[in-house]
Amino acid sequence: MDQNEKKKAVAHAALKYVEQDSIVGVGTGSTVNYFIDALAEIKHKIEGAVSSSTASTERMKKLGIEVFDLNSVDQLSVYIDGADEVTEHKHMIKGGGAALTQEKIVAAVAKKFVCIVDDSKRVGVLGKFPLPVEVIPMARSYVAREMVKLGGDPAYREGVITDNGNVILDVHNLEILDPRELEQKINNIAGVVTNGIFAMRGADVVLSATDKGVETIE
Ligand code: 5RP
Repeated sequence: MDQNEKKKAVAHAALKYVEQDSIVGVGTGSTVNYFIDALAEIKHKIEGAVSSSTASTERMKKLGIEVFDLNSVDQLSVYIDGADEVTEHKHMIKGGGAALTQEKIVAAVAKKFVCIVDDSKRVGVLGKFPLPVEVIPMARSYVAREMVKLGGDPAYREGVITDNGNVILDVHNLEILDPRELEQKINNIAGVVTNGIFAMRGADVVLSATDKGVETIE
């Protein structure tokens, strides 16, 4: 199986976590795009979705899936999203698609977070993938200097403005041995909106597509 076939397989496998007549939390990215396509096939069985990005909202609306504002929904049974890296402890790096803040918000509301990846995303230790940090524009240089103090090597993702009007620093060369501690530390820097470590609220289930099929890590 090539990587796209794996993404498609794992996206379909996630459908079993979607409850009848529910509102589904939907992430962002190429793996999630396959999930949205699969969700559209069963759209008559759900009430609709809450989206984590403009890109996912547009795709769902085009396919006839109703998209609700998170403020009008008090609970989500499940949130389905991809990741850039995921460990056996179900900690993740996310934000390759710059949607990390809204992803973290929707994930916080959901009862269950189902992470869908192909096996290239599985790692022992987080940090090979540059850590995305969403930053208020005026704080960019300050936050970059703070990230250097934490041992990272920040790069400004030029030309990218997030759905919230902010910028992204991609922090290279971090070896993230304590993801929960670093997630909180970075979020405490003035000007940081959030960072792409998802450890405080990690995944509950990881579905990982391999050549042999979809593996479930619970
Ligand atoms: C977007 C994300 C995505 O989930 C992550 O980048 C993985 O994307 P893909 O499925 O395209 O590899 O966090 O902000």
